Amino acid sequence: MDFVNVADLGPDGLQEVLALAADVKTNRSEVAGSRPGLRVGLFFEKPSTRTRVSCEVASADLGMVPLVLKQDEVGLGKRESVEDVGRVLDRYLDVLAFRVFDHQNLMKMAAITDAPVINLLSDLEHPCQALADLQTVAEHRPLPGATVAFIGDGNNVCNSLMIAGAMMGTNVRVASPDGNEPTDEMLAAARAGASGGATIAVTNDPAEAVAGADVVYTDVWASMGQEDEAAERRRRFQPYQVNLDLFEKAQDDAVFMHCLPAHRGDEVTDDVADHSRSRIFDQAENRMHAFKALLLYLTAD
Ligand code: CP
Ligand code: NVA
Repeated sequence: MDFVNVADLGPDGLQEVLALAADVKTNRSEVAGSRPGLRVGLFFEKPSTRTRVSCEVASADLGMVPLVLKQDEVGLGKRESVEDVGRVLDRYLDVLAFRVFDHQNLMKMAAITDAPVINLLSDLEHPCQALADLQTVAEHRPLPGATVAFIGDGNNVCNSLMIAGAMMGTNVRVASPDGNEPTDEMLAAARAGASGGATIAVTNDPAEAVAGADVVYTDVWASMGQEDEAAERRRRFQPYQVNLDLFEKAQDDAVFMHCLPAHRGDEVTDDVADHSRSRIFDQAENRMHAFKALLLYLTAD
């Protein structure tokens, strides 16, 4: 099976991967070397720190052989068609993981390869991030009934968090400027997969979204590929900055999350990013445990 869209795992699969992620975090040695020799391709069309390193380390911990490929050498869709790159890599590798601009390229790849295809971030989704996000939320509150407020752009990170959260019974409130909300298609996907009465709410009012929330989450205002819009977005998103004033409207013990990299001073202030209740580096660490769990799940006999 593939993991291109976060919903691909289904609720049972998602639950199993999250349980496995918590387990491998506490018992790191238990699964060490348990997938000897499997080859994992990690392809990047955009920059990465966390994803590249956490996936490489997770693969190596399992005894797998990670191979990192960059767009300047592969030329996906430029030097060679997307499909031919997929067909060729499928002959060498046991798992194919890609960070791409165009989500459709992942769908094309998944349709023609035998090896599982994993989405390491596309314009539409960041499902591996959502695994680590839910693992981090679960370290603070049981997922069913918890409330996460996502403040900012209705982007790839928001989409996967919203869909996966709803699948696990977590309420998600999104506050975005007018025109930057998650699309109707993504909202419908989240609502269709919601369990346990989880609700997905969208507002233009960040204070309304944060009021009483268990988790306050934000991401950059301009994602990779939107650099040209950065100045205009900085003006438009200013009222959506997660600062101490906004963070304090959440539960007294609420935690702050961010997928990172952060543009400190824009979407989050230092006093929130460095707050005693900020979980951003636990979240980054969990990328490694969650990817390990995903690899174990996808390569199980
Ligand atoms: N959160 C995340 O995906 O970080 P990188 O872009 O550094 O991989
Ligand atoms: N939304 C951001 C996430 C980076 C991890 C981007 O796509 O650039």
